[in-house]
Amino acid sequence: AKNVGIIAMDIYFPPTCVQQEVLEAHDGASKGKYTIGLGQDCMAFCSEVEDVISMSLTVVTSLLEKYGVDPKQIGRLEVGSETVIDKSKSIKTFIMQIFEACGNTDIEGVDSTNACYGGTAALFNCVNWVESASWDGRYGLVVCTDSAVYAEGPARPTGGAAAIAMLIGPDAPIAFESKLRGSHMAHVYDFYKPNLASEYPVVDGKLSQTCYLMALDACYKYFCHKFEKLEGKQFSINDAEYFVFHSPYNKLVQKSFARLVFNDFTRNASSVDEAGKEKLAPFASLTGDESYQNRDLEKASQQVAKPLYDAKVQPTTLVPKQVGNMYTASIYAAFASLIHNKHSALNDKRVILFSYGSGLTATMFSLRLREGQHPFSLSNIASIMNVGEKLKSRHEFPPEKFVEIMQLMEHRYGAKDFVTNKDCSLLAPGTYYLTEVDSMYRRFYAKK
Ligand code: ACO
Repeated sequence: AKNVGIIAMDIYFPPTCVQQEVLEAHDGASKGKYTIGLGQDCMAFCSEVEDVISMSLTVVTSLLEKYGVDPKQIGRLEVGSETVIDKSKSIKTFIMQIFEACGNTDIEGVDSTNACYGGTAALFNCVNWVESASWDGRYGLVVCTDSAVYAEGPARPTGGAAAIAMLIGPDAPIAFESKLRGSHMAHVYDFYKPNLASEYPVVDGKLSQTCYLMALDACYKYFCHKFEKLEGKQFSINDAEYFVFHSPYNKLVQKSFARLVFNDFTRNASSVDEAGKEKLAPFASLTGDESYQNRDLEKASQQVAKPLYDAKVQPTTLVPKQVGNMYTASIYAAFASLIHNKHSALNDKRVILFSYGSGLTATMFSLRLREGQHPFSLSNIASIMNVGEKLKSRHEFPPEKFVEIMQLMEHRYGAKDFVTNKDCSLLAPGTYYLTEVDSMYRRFYAKK
Protein backbone atom coordinates (compact mmCIF):
# COMPACT_ATOMS: atom_id res chain seq x y z
CA ALA A 1 0.00 0.00 0.00
CA LYS A 2 1.18 3.52 -0.82
CA ASN A 3 0.85 6.83 1.06
CA VAL A 4 -0.46 5.11 4.17
CA GLY A 5 -1.72 7.37 6.89
CA ILE A 6 -4.73 8.98 8.52
CA ILE A 7 -7.76 9.13 6.23
CA ALA A 8 -10.38 10.27 8.75
CA MET A 9 -10.45 11.67 12.30
CA ASP A 10 -12.90 12.57 15.00
CA ILE A 11 -12.47 14.11 18.43
CA TYR A 12 -14.56 14.04 21.60
CA PHE A 13 -14.02 15.91 24.84
CA PRO A 14 -16.37 16.23 27.82
CA PRO A 15 -18.69 19.26 27.76
CA THR A 16 -17.80 19.87 31.41
CA CYS A 17 -14.94 22.30 32.01
CA VAL A 18 -13.43 24.88 34.33
CA GLN A 19 -11.86 28.20 33.30
CA GLN A 20 -8.19 28.48 34.25
CA GLU A 21 -8.57 32.11 35.28
CA VAL A 22 -11.27 31.17 37.77
CA LEU A 23 -9.39 28.10 39.00
CA GLU A 24 -6.29 30.22 39.51
CA ALA A 25 -8.15 32.59 41.82
CA HIS A 26 -9.83 29.70 43.64
CA ASP A 27 -6.46 27.96 44.23
CA GLY A 28 -4.89 31.16 45.57
CA ALA A 29 -2.30 31.19 42.77
CA SER A 30 -1.00 34.57 41.59
CA LYS A 31 -2.97 36.13 38.76
CA GLY A 32 -1.76 34.92 35.38
CA LYS A 33 0.02 31.84 36.72
CA TYR A 34 -2.19 29.30 34.92
CA THR A 35 -3.16 31.45 31.93
CA ILE A 36 0.22 33.04 31.14
CA GLY A 37 2.62 30.99 33.28
CA LEU A 38 1.29 27.66 31.98
CA GLY A 39 -0.37 29.16 28.89
CA GLN A 40 -3.70 27.40 29.48
CA ASP A 41 -7.21 28.82 28.95
CA CYS A 42 -9.63 26.15 30.09
CA MET A 43 -9.63 22.52 31.30
CA ALA A 44 -12.11 19.75 30.49
CA PHE A 45 -12.82 16.97 32.97
CA CYS A 46 -14.97 13.85 33.13
CA SER A 47 -18.00 14.12 35.36
CA GLU A 48 -19.12 10.99 37.20
CA VAL A 49 -20.88 9.60 34.12
CA GLU A 50 -17.90 9.74 31.76
CA ASP A 51 -14.60 7.86 31.59
CA VAL A 52 -12.03 6.73 29.02
CA ILE A 53 -14.26 3.86 27.91
CA SER A 54 -17.40 5.93 27.40
CA MET A 55 -15.38 8.58 25.53
CA SER A 56 -13.89 5.97 23.19
CA LEU A 57 -17.29 4.38 22.52
CA THR A 58 -18.60 7.84 21.69
CA VAL A 59 -15.79 8.85 19.37
CA VAL A 60 -15.61 5.52 17.50
CA THR A 61 -19.38 5.42 16.91
CA SER A 62 -19.31 9.02 15.74
CA LEU A 63 -16.41 8.46 13.32
CA LEU A 64 -17.99 5.37 11.72
CA GLU A 65 -21.36 7.09 11.33
CA LYS A 66 -20.18 10.46 10.09
CA TYR A 67 -17.78 9.11 7.46
CA GLY A 68 -20.16 6.29 6.48
CA VAL A 69 -17.67 3.53 7.30
CA ASP A 70 -19.16 0.03 7.72
CA PRO A 71 -17.80 -1.53 10.96
CA LYS A 72 -17.05 -4.67 8.92
CA GLN A 73 -14.39 -2.67 7.05
CA ILE A 74 -12.20 -2.42 10.17
CA GLY A 75 -9.47 -5.08 10.40
CA ARG A 76 -7.34 -3.68 13.20
CA LEU A 77 -8.21 -1.63 16.27
CA GLU A 78 -5.46 -0.22 18.49
CA VAL A 79 -5.96 1.84 21.64
CA GLY A 80 -3.46 4.14 23.33
CA SER A 81 -4.20 5.11 26.92
CA GLU A 82 -2.50 5.57 30.27
CA THR A 83 -5.72 5.66 32.27
CA VAL A 84 -5.88 2.27 33.95
CA ILE A 85 -9.37 1.00 34.64
CA ASP A 86 -8.45 -2.67 34.45
CA LYS A 87 -4.97 -4.21 34.70
CA SER A 88 -5.88 -7.05 32.34
CA LYS A 89 -8.94 -6.34 30.22
CA SER A 90 -8.07 -3.89 27.47
CA ILE A 91 -10.14 -0.83 26.56
CA LYS A 92 -10.11 -2.29 23.04
CA THR A 93 -12.33 -5.16 24.23
CA PHE A 94 -14.98 -2.68 25.44
CA ILE A 95 -14.98 -1.00 22.03
CA MET A 96 -15.50 -4.43 20.43
CA GLN A 97 -19.17 -4.16 21.49
CA ILE A 98 -19.69 -1.85 18.51
CA PHE A 99 -18.16 -4.33 16.08
CA GLU A 100 -19.68 -7.50 17.58
CA ALA A 101 -23.11 -5.98 17.02
CA CYS A 102 -22.30 -5.91 13.28
CA GLY A 103 -20.88 -9.44 13.23
CA ASN A 104 -17.24 -8.35 12.93
CA THR A 105 -15.01 -9.98 15.55
CA ASP A 106 -12.06 -10.50 13.19
CA ILE A 107 -10.12 -7.47 14.43
CA GLU A 108 -6.49 -7.54 15.59
CA GLY A 109 -4.87 -5.21 18.10
CA VAL A 110 -4.97 -4.42 21.84
CA ASP A 111 -3.96 -1.47 24.07
CA SER A 112 -0.56 0.24 24.18
CA THR A 113 0.58 1.97 27.35
CA ASN A 114 3.45 4.28 28.18
CA ALA A 115 2.26 7.61 29.57
CA CYS A 116 1.31 10.01 26.75
CA TYR A 117 3.10 7.93 24.09
CA GLY A 118 0.62 5.01 23.89
CA GLY A 119 -1.42 6.66 21.13
CA THR A 120 1.63 7.08 18.94
CA ALA A 121 2.59 3.43 19.51
CA ALA A 122 -0.97 2.45 18.51
CA LEU A 123 -0.82 4.70 15.44
CA PHE A 124 2.53 3.26 14.31
CA ASN A 125 1.16 -0.28 14.79
CA CYS A 126 -1.77 0.46 12.48
CA VAL A 127 0.31 2.26 9.85
CA ASN A 128 2.90 -0.54 9.91
CA TRP A 129 0.12 -3.11 9.54
CA VAL A 130 -1.34 -1.44 6.45
CA GLU A 131 2.20 -1.18 4.99
CA SER A 132 2.93 -4.86 5.78
CA ALA A 133 2.46 -8.28 4.16
CA SER A 134 -0.22 -9.20 6.75
CA TRP A 135 -2.55 -6.37 5.69
CA ASP A 136 -5.91 -7.76 4.49
CA GLY A 137 -7.13 -4.65 2.69
CA ARG A 138 -9.33 -3.32 5.51
CA TYR A 139 -8.87 -0.14 7.56
CA GLY A 140 -6.98 0.27 10.80
CA LEU A 141 -8.56 2.28 13.60
CA VAL A 142 -6.61 4.06 16.34
CA VAL A 143 -8.19 5.38 19.52
CA CYS A 144 -6.36 7.67 21.97
CA THR A 145 -8.34 8.12 25.16
CA ASP A 146 -7.36 9.61 28.50
CA SER A 147 -8.56 11.44 31.53
CA ALA A 148 -5.69 13.45 33.04
CA VAL A 149 -6.28 14.24 36.70
CA TYR A 150 -3.79 15.36 39.35
CA ALA A 151 -3.83 15.63 43.14
CA GLU A 152 -4.37 19.13 44.51
CA GLY A 153 -1.25 21.23 44.03
CA PRO A 154 0.73 22.85 41.21
CA ALA A 155 0.05 20.07 38.68
CA ARG A 156 -3.76 20.09 39.08
CA PRO A 157 -4.35 22.82 36.45
CA THR A 158 -2.50 20.68 33.89
CA GLY A 159 -5.30 18.09 33.68
CA GLY A 160 -7.73 17.51 30.81
CA ALA A 161 -9.73 14.76 29.07
CA ALA A 162 -10.51 13.64 25.52
CA ALA A 163 -10.70 10.77 23.06
CA ILE A 164 -9.58 10.85 19.43
CA ALA A 165 -10.24 8.27 16.73
CA MET A 166 -8.16 8.02 13.55
CA LEU A 167 -8.94 5.81 10.57
CA ILE A 168 -5.83 4.40 8.88
CA GLY A 169 -5.57 3.38 5.23
CA PRO A 170 -3.73 3.85 1.91
CA ASP A 171 -3.85 6.98 -0.30
CA ALA A 172 -4.33 9.07 2.80
CA PRO A 173 -4.73 12.86 2.82
CA ILE A 174 -2.46 12.71 5.89
CA ALA A 175 0.31 10.36 4.76
CA PHE A 176 3.30 9.16 6.75
CA GLU A 177 6.78 9.85 5.47
CA SER A 178 7.68 6.56 7.11
CA LYS A 179 11.43 6.81 6.64
CA LEU A 180 11.52 10.09 8.57
CA ARG A 181 11.35 9.08 12.22
CA GLY A 182 13.71 9.69 15.10
CA SER A 183 13.14 8.13 18.52
CA HIS A 184 14.70 8.44 21.96
CA MET A 185 13.82 6.05 24.77
CA ALA A 186 15.35 5.83 28.25
CA HIS A 187 14.69 4.97 31.89
CA VAL A 188 13.72 7.93 34.12
CA TYR A 189 11.28 8.63 36.94
CA ASP A 190 9.78 11.95 35.81
CA PHE A 191 6.09 11.03 35.86
CA TYR A 192 4.72 7.58 36.71
CA LYS A 193 1.78 5.84 38.33
CA PRO A 194 3.15 3.29 40.81
CA ASN A 195 0.24 3.61 43.24
CA LEU A 196 -2.37 1.32 41.76
CA ALA A 197 -4.95 2.45 44.33
CA SER A 198 -4.90 6.01 42.99
CA GLU A 199 -5.65 7.52 39.61
CA TYR A 200 -3.14 10.31 40.28
CA PRO A 201 0.44 10.16 39.02
CA VAL A 202 3.62 10.74 40.99
CA VAL A 203 5.23 13.63 39.16
CA ASP A 204 8.50 15.49 39.35
CA GLY A 205 7.33 18.46 37.30
CA LYS A 206 10.70 20.16 36.81
CA LEU A 207 12.43 16.90 35.89
CA SER A 208 9.65 16.06 33.42
CA GLN A 209 10.22 19.39 31.64
CA THR A 210 13.95 18.75 31.31
CA CYS A 211 13.39 15.15 30.20
CA TYR A 212 10.91 16.39 27.58
CA LEU A 213 13.42 18.90 26.19
CA MET A 214 16.31 16.42 26.24
CA ALA A 215 14.17 13.86 24.40
CA LEU A 216 13.20 16.55 21.90
CA ASP A 217 16.87 17.33 21.22
CA ALA A 218 17.73 13.66 20.78
CA CYS A 219 14.79 12.95 18.47
CA TYR A 220 15.53 16.05 16.40
CA LYS A 221 19.15 14.97 16.01
CA TYR A 222 18.16 11.50 14.75
CA PHE A 223 15.41 12.96 12.59
CA CYS A 224 17.79 15.46 10.93
CA HIS A 225 20.36 12.73 10.40
CA LYS A 226 17.82 10.52 8.61
CA PHE A 227 16.54 13.43 6.55
CA GLU A 228 20.06 14.29 5.43
CA LYS A 229 20.84 10.70 4.48
CA LEU A 230 17.62 10.47 2.47
CA GLU A 231 17.49 13.90 0.84
CA GLY A 232 21.18 14.70 0.65
CA LYS A 233 20.75 18.11 2.27
CA GLN A 234 20.64 19.59 5.74
CA PHE A 235 17.23 19.77 7.43
CA SER A 236 16.09 23.05 8.95
CA ILE A 237 12.85 24.21 10.53
CA ASN A 238 12.04 25.82 7.18
CA ASP A 239 11.66 22.37 5.60
CA ALA A 240 8.36 21.88 7.44
CA GLU A 241 5.30 24.10 7.36
CA TYR A 242 4.04 23.22 10.86
CA PHE A 243 5.31 21.64 14.07
CA VAL A 244 2.96 19.78 16.39
CA PHE A 245 4.00 18.93 19.96
CA HIS A 246 2.63 16.79 22.73
CA SER A 247 1.18 19.48 24.95
CA PRO A 248 1.14 18.98 28.75
CA TYR A 249 0.57 22.77 28.90
CA ASN A 250 1.19 25.42 26.28
CA LYS A 251 4.24 27.02 27.95
CA LEU A 252 6.20 23.80 27.39
CA VAL A 253 5.26 23.87 23.70
CA GLN A 254 6.62 27.43 23.43
CA LYS A 255 9.85 26.32 25.12
CA SER A 256 10.09 23.25 22.89
CA PHE A 257 9.84 25.13 19.64
CA ALA A 258 12.40 27.65 20.91
CA ARG A 259 14.64 24.70 21.68
CA LEU A 260 14.39 23.54 18.04
CA VAL A 261 15.39 27.02 16.91
CA PHE A 262 18.38 26.88 19.27
CA ASN A 263 19.24 23.49 17.76
CA ASP A 264 19.14 24.99 14.27
CA PHE A 265 21.41 27.78 15.51
CA THR A 266 24.03 25.37 16.88
CA ARG A 267 23.79 23.28 13.67
CA ASN A 268 24.24 26.45 11.63
CA ALA A 269 21.02 25.65 9.75
CA SER A 270 19.38 28.20 7.48
CA SER A 271 16.31 28.98 9.63
CA VAL A 272 18.15 31.40 11.97
CA ASP A 273 18.92 34.78 10.42
CA GLU A 274 21.83 37.10 11.30
CA ALA A 275 19.93 38.99 13.99
CA GLY A 276 18.92 35.68 15.59
CA LYS A 277 22.48 34.39 15.46
CA GLU A 278 23.69 37.48 17.25
CA LYS A 279 21.12 37.05 20.04
CA LEU A 280 22.01 33.39 20.52
CA ALA A 281 25.79 33.71 20.16
CA PRO A 282 26.42 34.17 23.92
CA PHE A 283 25.01 30.68 24.51
CA ALA A 284 26.92 28.84 21.79
CA SER A 285 29.47 27.34 24.18
CA LEU A 286 27.07 26.07 26.89
CA THR A 287 27.23 22.34 27.54
CA GLY A 288 24.00 20.42 26.97
CA ASP A 289 23.27 20.18 30.69
CA GLU A 290 23.90 23.89 31.29
CA SER A 291 21.69 24.84 28.39
CA TYR A 292 18.58 23.16 29.91
CA GLN A 293 18.88 25.23 33.09
CA ASN A 294 19.86 28.57 31.55
CA ARG A 295 16.98 31.07 31.91
CA ASP A 296 18.62 33.71 29.70
CA LEU A 297 18.94 31.21 26.88
CA GLU A 298 15.30 30.23 27.36
CA LYS A 299 14.25 33.86 27.03
CA ALA A 300 16.54 34.68 24.10
CA SER A 301 15.57 31.61 22.10
CA GLN A 302 11.85 32.20 22.71
CA GLN A 303 12.35 35.75 21.45
CA VAL A 304 14.20 34.63 18.32
CA ALA A 305 11.62 31.88 17.74
CA LYS A 306 8.55 34.14 18.16
CA PRO A 307 7.75 34.92 14.48
CA LEU A 308 8.35 31.29 13.48
CA TYR A 309 6.28 30.09 16.45
CA ASP A 310 3.38 32.30 15.41
CA ALA A 311 3.48 30.91 11.87
CA LYS A 312 4.38 27.26 12.43
CA VAL A 313 3.08 26.32 15.90
CA GLN A 314 0.38 28.72 17.07
CA PRO A 315 -2.29 27.23 14.71
CA THR A 316 -1.81 23.85 16.46
CA THR A 317 -2.46 25.06 20.00
CA LEU A 318 -6.22 25.75 20.15
CA VAL A 319 -7.62 22.49 21.55
CA PRO A 320 -4.76 21.77 24.00
CA LYS A 321 -5.12 25.30 25.44
CA GLN A 322 -8.89 24.97 25.69
CA VAL A 323 -9.16 21.35 26.87
CA GLY A 324 -5.87 20.80 28.72
CA ASN A 325 -3.53 17.84 28.72
CA MET A 326 -5.31 14.86 27.17
CA TYR A 327 -2.25 12.60 27.60
CA THR A 328 -2.25 10.19 24.62
CA ALA A 329 -4.77 12.35 22.75
CA SER A 330 -2.90 15.61 23.38
CA ILE A 331 -0.61 15.62 20.33
CA TYR A 332 -3.43 14.50 18.02
CA ALA A 333 -5.73 17.17 19.46
CA ALA A 334 -2.99 19.66 18.58
CA PHE A 335 -2.91 18.20 15.08
CA ALA A 336 -6.72 18.42 14.93
CA SER A 337 -6.41 22.13 15.79
CA LEU A 338 -4.15 22.58 12.78
CA ILE A 339 -6.69 20.92 10.47
CA HIS A 340 -9.45 23.02 12.02
CA ASN A 341 -7.51 26.27 11.48
CA LYS A 342 -5.70 25.61 8.19
CA HIS A 343 -7.44 22.79 6.29
CA SER A 344 -7.67 24.73 3.04
CA ALA A 345 -3.97 25.70 3.07
CA LEU A 346 -2.33 22.35 3.81
CA ASN A 347 -2.06 20.84 0.35
CA ASP A 348 1.42 19.33 -0.19
CA LYS A 349 2.67 20.64 3.16
CA ARG A 350 4.97 18.74 5.52
CA VAL A 351 4.00 18.63 9.19
CA ILE A 352 6.43 17.37 11.87
CA LEU A 353 5.08 15.85 15.09
CA PHE A 354 6.85 15.28 18.40
CA SER A 355 5.33 12.67 20.68
CA TYR A 356 6.53 12.36 24.30
CA GLY A 357 5.57 9.89 27.01
CA SER A 358 7.15 10.15 30.44
CA GLY A 359 9.26 7.32 31.70
CA LEU A 360 10.37 7.90 28.84
CA THR A 361 9.57 7.24 25.21
CA ALA A 362 9.61 9.83 22.42
CA THR A 363 9.47 10.00 18.62
CA MET A 364 9.62 12.78 16.06
CA PHE A 365 7.94 11.88 12.76
CA SER A 366 6.77 13.47 9.55
CA LEU A 367 3.46 13.69 7.70
CA ARG A 368 2.76 14.89 4.16
CA LEU A 369 -0.68 16.43 3.62
CA ARG A 370 -2.94 16.79 0.58
CA GLU A 371 -6.61 17.69 0.20
CA GLY A 372 -7.80 14.14 -0.69
CA GLN A 373 -11.16 12.88 -1.94
CA HIS A 374 -14.49 13.25 -0.15
CA PRO A 375 -15.34 11.93 2.42
CA PHE A 376 -11.67 11.45 3.26
CA SER A 377 -10.60 15.02 2.56
CA LEU A 378 -9.02 17.58 4.88
CA SER A 379 -11.98 19.94 4.55
CA ASN A 380 -14.43 17.18 5.41
CA ILE A 381 -12.30 16.05 8.38
CA ALA A 382 -12.37 19.65 9.65
CA SER A 383 -16.13 19.93 9.27
CA ILE A 384 -16.84 16.54 10.88
CA MET A 385 -14.57 17.24 13.86
CA ASN A 386 -16.47 20.51 14.28
CA VAL A 387 -14.01 21.73 16.89
CA GLY A 388 -15.30 25.31 17.10
CA GLU A 389 -18.86 24.29 17.82
CA LYS A 390 -17.81 21.62 20.35
CA LEU A 391 -15.71 24.14 22.26
CA LYS A 392 -18.48 26.72 22.26
CA SER A 393 -21.23 24.46 23.52
CA ARG A 394 -19.44 23.48 26.75
CA HIS A 395 -20.64 24.15 30.28
CA GLU A 396 -18.34 25.99 32.65
CA PHE A 397 -18.31 24.71 36.21
CA PRO A 398 -17.28 26.73 39.24
CA PRO A 399 -14.00 25.43 40.78
CA GLU A 400 -15.79 24.31 43.96
CA LYS A 401 -17.96 21.96 41.91
CA PHE A 402 -14.91 20.71 39.99
CA VAL A 403 -13.09 19.92 43.26
CA GLU A 404 -16.20 18.16 44.56
CA ILE A 405 -16.32 15.95 41.46
CA MET A 406 -12.58 15.19 41.77
CA GLN A 407 -13.22 14.03 45.35
CA LEU A 408 -16.10 11.80 44.29
CA MET A 409 -13.94 10.29 41.52
CA GLU A 410 -11.11 9.60 44.00
CA HIS A 411 -13.59 7.64 46.03
CA ARG A 412 -14.99 5.82 43.00
CA TYR A 413 -11.59 4.89 41.52
CA GLY A 414 -11.21 1.11 41.66
CA ALA A 415 -14.54 0.79 43.48
CA LYS A 416 -17.42 -1.59 42.79
CA ASP A 417 -21.11 -1.82 43.50
CA PHE A 418 -22.31 1.68 42.72
CA VAL A 419 -24.67 3.37 40.32
CA THR A 420 -23.94 6.81 38.91
CA ASN A 421 -26.44 9.67 38.98
CA LYS A 422 -27.06 8.85 35.27
CA ASP A 423 -27.38 12.57 34.62
CA CYS A 424 -26.68 12.96 30.91
CA SER A 425 -28.42 16.32 30.53
CA LEU A 426 -25.17 18.09 29.55
CA LEU A 427 -24.09 15.43 27.05
CA ALA A 428 -24.77 15.73 23.33
CA PRO A 429 -27.08 13.16 21.73
CA GLY A 430 -25.12 10.03 20.80
CA THR A 431 -22.78 10.29 23.79
CA TYR A 432 -22.14 7.13 25.84
CA TYR A 433 -22.20 7.38 29.63
CA LEU A 434 -21.51 5.17 32.63
CA THR A 435 -24.57 3.97 34.53
CA GLU A 436 -23.31 1.30 36.90
CA VAL A 437 -20.40 -0.75 38.20
CA ASP A 438 -21.76 -3.99 39.69
CA SER A 439 -20.50 -6.20 42.53
CA MET A 440 -18.18 -8.01 40.06
CA TYR A 441 -16.66 -4.66 38.93
CA ARG A 442 -18.43 -5.02 35.57
CA ARG A 443 -19.09 -1.65 33.94
CA PHE A 444 -22.31 -0.73 32.15
CA TYR A 445 -22.85 2.10 29.71
CA ALA A 446 -25.86 3.65 28.01
CA LYS A 447 -26.09 5.89 24.94
CA LYS A 448 -27.94 9.19 25.02
N1 ACO B 1 2.02 35.35 35.84
C1 ACO B 1 2.71 34.82 34.77
N2 ACO B 1 3.52 33.74 34.88
C2 ACO B 1 3.68 33.16 36.09
C3 ACO B 1 3.01 33.66 37.24
C4 ACO B 1 2.15 34.81 37.07
N3 ACO B 1 1.46 35.31 38.09
N4 ACO B 1 3.35 32.88 38.27
C5 ACO B 1 4.20 31.94 37.82
N5 ACO B 1 4.39 32.09 36.49
C6 ACO B 1 5.18 31.27 35.60
C7 ACO B 1 6.53 30.85 36.10
O1 ACO B 1 7.50 31.85 35.88
C8 ACO B 1 6.78 29.60 35.28
O2 ACO B 1 7.13 29.96 33.96
P1 ACO B 1 8.53 29.54 33.35
O3 ACO B 1 8.53 28.03 33.29
O4 ACO B 1 8.58 30.15 32.01
O5 ACO B 1 9.54 30.04 34.30
C9 ACO B 1 5.40 28.97 35.15
O6 ACO B 1 4.49 30.03 35.46
C10 ACO B 1 5.16 27.80 36.08
O7 ACO B 1 5.35 28.18 37.40
P2 ACO B 1 6.39 27.42 38.36
O8 ACO B 1 6.27 28.03 39.70
O9 ACO B 1 7.71 27.33 37.72
O10 ACO B 1 5.90 25.90 38.36
P3 ACO B 1 4.84 25.15 39.28
O11 ACO B 1 5.48 24.76 40.54
O12 ACO B 1 3.56 25.88 39.34
O13 ACO B 1 4.61 23.82 38.40
C11 ACO B 1 4.47 22.41 36.51
C12 ACO B 1 4.37 23.84 37.02
C13 ACO B 1 5.86 21.85 36.83
C14 ACO B 1 4.27 22.42 35.02
C15 ACO B 1 3.37 21.58 37.19
O14 ACO B 1 2.14 22.08 36.81
C16 ACO B 1 3.42 20.11 36.87
O15 ACO B 1 4.14 19.36 37.53
N6 ACO B 1 2.60 19.63 35.88
C17 ACO B 1 2.52 18.23 35.50
C18 ACO B 1 3.77 17.68 34.89
C19 ACO B 1 3.76 17.63 33.43
O16 ACO B 1 2.77 17.84 32.78
N7 ACO B 1 4.96 17.36 32.86
C20 ACO B 1 5.15 17.45 31.46
C21 ACO B 1 5.55 16.23 30.69
S1 ACO B 1 4.83 14.74 31.20
C22 ACO B 1 3.17 14.71 30.78
O17 ACO B 1 2.73 15.03 29.73
C23 ACO B 1 2.30 14.23 31.84
